Order: sequence, then structure tokens, then C-alpha cells
Amino acid sequence: MNGAFRPLDVEAIRGDFPILKQEINPPLIYLDSAASSQKPNRVIDVLSDYYRTYNANIHRGIYRISEKATEQYEEARKKIARFINSPRACQIIFTRNTTESINLVANSWGNANLRAGDEILISVMEHHSNLVPWQLLAQRTGAKLRYIEVTDEGLLHLEELDRLLTERTKLVAVTHVSNVLGTVNPVQSITAAAHAVGAKVIIDAAQSAPHLPVDVQAIDCDFFAFSGHKMCGPTGIGVLFGKLDLLEEMPPFLGGGSMIRTVQREHSTYADLPQKFEAGTPSIAQTIGLGAAVDYLNDVGLDAIHPHEQELLEYAHQKLSEIEGITIYGPKPRHKVGAVTFNLDRIHAHDVAGILDQDGVAIRAGHHCTQPLMQKFGVIATARASFYLYNKLEEVDSLYEGLLKAQKILIRRRG
Ligand code: ALA
Repeated sequence: MNGAFRPLDVEAIRGDFPILKQEINPPLIYLDSAASSQKPNRVIDVLSDYYRTYNANIHRGIYRISEKATEQYEEARKKIARFINSPRACQIIFTRNTTESINLVANSWGNANLRAGDEILISVMEHHSNLVPWQLLAQRTGAKLRYIEVTDEGLLHLEELDRLLTERTKLVAVTHVSNVLGTVNPVQSITAAAHAVGAKVIIDAAQSAPHLPVDVQAIDCDFFAFSGHKMCGPTGIGVLFGKLDLLEEMPPFLGGGSMIRTVQREHSTYADLPQKFEAGTPSIAQTIGLGAAVDYLNDVGLDAIHPHEQELLEYAHQKLSEIEGITIYGPKPRHKVGAVTFNLDRIHAHDVAGILDQDGVAIRAGHHCTQPLMQKFGVIATARASFYLYNKLEEVDSLYEGLLKAQKILIRRRG
């Protein structure tokens, strides 16, 4: 398929995803792409082709298949740089996932730059991966964590930003899109406000890069982190973008092979970017697979994917709002992407997910690695349905029917 058709030809897209074409009973209705997306043939074929025809380590072999592997790996870096509008490919560092990208910044930039009394500003809607690394950094350095609160509607309390940002703020770490509420945060204006007090900014883009066109130069953030597996790519490959001057002055995160220039008994010198941050044999197949995923998303077009997902979200909000005893968390669809999060009165989210699974509907239930956000809403868990380019409106109907069934079975059983 190619990007020639608008609006999205969802049936053609579904044909690209073998998992959705399986003849199983009940058929899979996959509404958990915020946890991990499905993979198109193009990505699966690229992985298989690497292992079948040119499997070799990179940056070391003086033979044909190693050179091809190196070339494809570095080609993926260029594709990803273009995808997020990074000025240079060497500003793209490959990691295992968003979590590792954030930990890289916390350990390298954070250890070198934070002191007791400094402040790190994060938000109450952060995934634990953009929270725990900063807690650990605060514990190591004596810096203090401060929080941007979340409104009852599920938006950031941005009026508080002026009060929270001071000359003590050294870093602002915020999510672009909430993995629970789907809230899209105004990262460009947050970055401008942070820079005005001299703070650096890291954006957790795990839930935005798969869904929205992103431009790191327009946002002007210092660091930008995301994962391959949520954007049609394989697991085990993550990305960290950083501004060139920061990456150049930062010390290495992991030490080992590939990241050195020279090694003496007592000390070493380090390779140039990006190798300085890529110790050890990387996820070669997965990186090349992510390059194929980016090609795929570019061909379909994020400008076409986004309106399709909005239509699904609008419809999901409308249908789910008809259900008696449902609480939907988070803002109206126009302020969000990707996910609708809810609870049914008197039913635990895990039980809801279990009943839906009987009819093939896969959703996520739990605290979604966001316990402070759950505490804000006074719940221990929620159910979350999340959408991607291959979902169709009928699947929202199946979700709706499944929720009615869950109420019928579970509320009747409990009396
Ligand atoms: N962060 C992923 C999610 O929200 C795993 O489900």
C-alpha cells in the first residue's frame, strides 16, 4: 500500500498487519496500542531478511554482510532523524526503549549538572519512566522534585508554571502525550518557559511520536525520548534525541565496546557521537526494523493517521458516555490523542478487561505505570482502550457491547 489515498483506507491498512488477519475465534480486536502497537509485514519482513541474509555485527566486520548491516543500521538513524526533524543524524542515540533514553539523560547529564538545592520539575501525569529516574537523581544529588499538578479535567495546571519555574529549576521533564488520559501537552510553550529560567527540557514522546507529526527543532526541547515498539517497530529499540552541544559535553552512560576511541589501563577516551552513547552490540535487527516502521508511517502519512484516530476517539467518547455508571477520565477528544480511559461503577478494571477478552477485545487495565495520576483521581486502577491506524469504528462498537456485558454479568453476580 502507499500514501496515495485519503482518508485512511483502514481495510487496506489492516491487510498490512498479519496479526489482524488471523483466522481465530473470536477475532482479535486490538485496543492496546498505547502499550505496544502491532507490526506491519514490511517491518516483519525486514527483520526476517536481516537474519536470513546479512546477519552480522556492525561497525567492525571488514566483509560484505557486516558492511551491509552497518549501512542499514546507519540508514535507519538518518530516517529517524528526518522523521523528528533532528538537525543531524548523530543527534539520534539508539537505546532499548524510552525508559533507557530517560535514564541515560538522568545518569549522564543529570549526574554532571545537578547539585543539592537544584530543582527538577515534572508533572503528576508522568509515566513512572519519567518519574523514578528523576527521584533517583534527586536522591543522588540532593536536588528536589517539584510537580505540575493535573486538573480534574486531566490537563496540566499550566497557570502554576510561572510560580514553579525559578532560577533553581535545572530540568523540566514532561510527557508530550499522557499514556493514560491521552492529553496532549503544549510542550513548545512549556519548553520556552523553562528556557526563560535557564532550565533544560526533556520530552517523553513515547505516546506522541507514533501518532503526531513531531518536530524537535520547532519544540526546541533539549532531549526527546521515544520507543520503536509503539510506532509499528520492534521491541528493544528506543531513541534519544539531544541537542548537539549537550550530547557532546555529556559523559558516557554505559561503558564498554564500541563507545571508546582508546583504552589504557587506567583511563579511556571516548568515541564521537553517536557511538559514545552506544556501548556494546546494539539491537541491530530492531533498529533496521524501526527504520522500516518509519518508512511505513511516512507512506501512510501521520497527517492521515491523526484525523482517523480522532474520529475513533470522538466515537468512543460518544458511545461510552451512553453507558450508565461509567466514569471517563481525561479531557475531551480535541485535547488528546490515542486513548480513552474509564471505570465502570462497582467493577474492578481487571474484571472489565477479563470479560472483554472473552470476546477478543484486548484493552489494558491497571495503574498504567502512573500511580501518582491514579492517586490524583482517587482510584487504584482504570481500564484503557487505545487506538491506532488499523482500528475501525466497529471495534468501538464491540468495546461498547463488551462493557454492557461486563455490567450485566458482574453487577448481577454481586447483587
Ligand atoms: N507505557 C505503556 C502503556 O502505557 C506500557 O501501556
